[in-house]
Amino acid sequence: MRGKLVVGNWKMHGGLRQNDALLADLRAGWQPADAREIAVCVPFPYLWQAQAALSGSAIAWGAQNVSEHPIGAHTGEVAATMVAEFGCRYAIVGHSERRAMQGETDDAVAAKAAAALDAGLVPIVCVGETLEQRQAGETKTIVLRQLAAVIARLGKRMAQMVVAYEPVWAIGTGKTATSDQAQEVHRLLRDHLRAADTTAGDVSLLYGGSVKASNAKALFACADVDGALVGGASLKADEFLSIAIA
Ligand code: 13P
Repeated sequence: MRGKLVVGNWKMHGGLRQNDALLADLRAGWQPADAREIAVCVPFPYLWQAQAALSGSAIAWGAQNVSEHPIGAHTGEVAATMVAEFGCRYAIVGHSERRAMQGETDDAVAAKAAAALDAGLVPIVCVGETLEQRQAGETKTIVLRQLAAVIARLGKRMAQMVVAYEPVWAIGTGKTATSDQAQEVHRLLRDHLRAADTTAGDVSLLYGGSVKASNAKALFACADVDGALVGGASLKADEFLSIAIA
C-alpha cells in the first residue's frame, strides 16, 4: 500500500531567521498520521539547519538538486554524497525550472537520479509538459520521454525513486491540473513503470503545480496520486500541514 507523501520545495526562498520559525512551526504542528509522510527540500546552505531543527522528528528533509558527478573539478556543484552527510532523505532532480533555466537534459537528470541513489538518497524525479506541448497534444510523449531516460539509467533501481508529475503550466500560476488531468498522466506513468519493471508499479507518484489546502483533497482522491510536491504553499507552515492531512 502506497502512503501519502507531501514534500515542500522551498525553491530559492528562505533565510536563517525565517527558516528557524518555519521549521519550528512544522515540527510543533505535525502530528504524524498513518501512512502519511512529509518532507522539506531546502536550499543547500540550509541543509544543516533543517537537520538541526528536524532531527528526531517525523519530518524528513532533502535537497533540490545534486550534481550528476560524484566528485571533482565542478565549481559550484554539490555532490549527492555531500547532501547525504546532512541527513537528507530526498533530492529533487530534474525540476522543470532547472530543465528550462539550467538546460538540464533528460540524460543529465537520469544521471542525477543515479547519483542520488548511489549516495543513499531517494531521488524525486520531476517530469511535466509545457502549455504549448499540452495544447499540441504532446503531453504523453514528453513525460514518457523524460521518464524513459531515467528508466534506462536506473534499471531495477527505478523502484526506489519517487516521480513527481508537475505540468509546467500549473507551476506558480495558480492553475492546478484538474483531478482528471492529473489522474490521466499518473495512470500513464504508473502503467509505464509497471511495464518496465513489475516492482516499479508501486513507485510513489506525486503531483505538483499550485497545490493548496483547498485543492489537495480532490487531487489525493485520485487513485494514482500518492501525494504532492508543493512550492509556494510549503512556505507557510499552516497551509503546508493542511495539505499534508488533506
Ligand atoms: P507551486 O506549488 O508554487 O506551483 O510550485 C510547484 C513546484 O514547482 C514544486 O516543485
